[in-house]
Amino acid sequence: MFITFEGIDGIGKSTQALRLKAWLEKLNYEVIYTFEPGGCELSKGVRELLLSGNIKDDIARLILFLGDRKLHVDKVIKPALDLNKIVICDRYNLSSIAYQSVNLDYKFVKEFVKSFNFVEPDINLFLDIKAEDALKRLENRGHAKDNIESEGVKYLNAVNENYKKLAEENNKIIVIDANKSELEIANLIKNYVNKILK
Ligand code: TYD
Repeated sequence: MFITFEGIDGIGKSTQALRLKAWLEKLNYEVIYTFEPGGCELSKGVRELLLSGNIKDDIARLILFLGDRKLHVDKVIKPALDLNKIVICDRYNLSSIAYQSVNLDYKFVKEFVKSFNFVEPDINLFLDIKAEDALKRLENRGHAKDNIESEGVKYLNAVNENYKKLAEENNKIIVIDANKSELEIANLIKNYVNKILK
């Protein structure tokens, strides 16, 4: 089984992903947690480059994210799925479409990403939240909000809207209200994943 977590920056995706991993392990499943960009040894440098902010060109960014994904799929995701492990991945194809099509054409990016035929997740858990609310949550928890501030509220709201649009077109994308508490979200996720496990 292949599960992805999606949504704008700083909303607790990794926390939920690791919670899910722990729960599945308690049920005796073999699980790996991985992430993009930079989820395999070879592409750590690509992550650094992408997060440095030095590459502003959107096409160049898109291609780098996809190159990173190709290595990640081949070296980490596919081998784990072949061993019947459950793979939990923090960001995947939908991130490329939701983020890169803020500045590039949505249809073009969607088709381009699709053309690579990367292994399809069984379920994409999209944590839906407005950037303003995500910021408030971060402040309340005393977290640094640099990530969000540097990206800009307007930009992240556009990303969130792209995710919503994607969810309307694909029933493997589960929309989860990320305004709920951490525990409520974790329980919702367990329910969805449980349905698929059965
Ligand atoms: P990361 O530190 O993983 O963010 P987070 O902790 O919020 O998940 O940084 C990844 C950044 O890269 C994030 O801003 C989203 C962006 N991104 C894309 O724009 N396209 C992509 O295809 C991927 C995988 C990530």
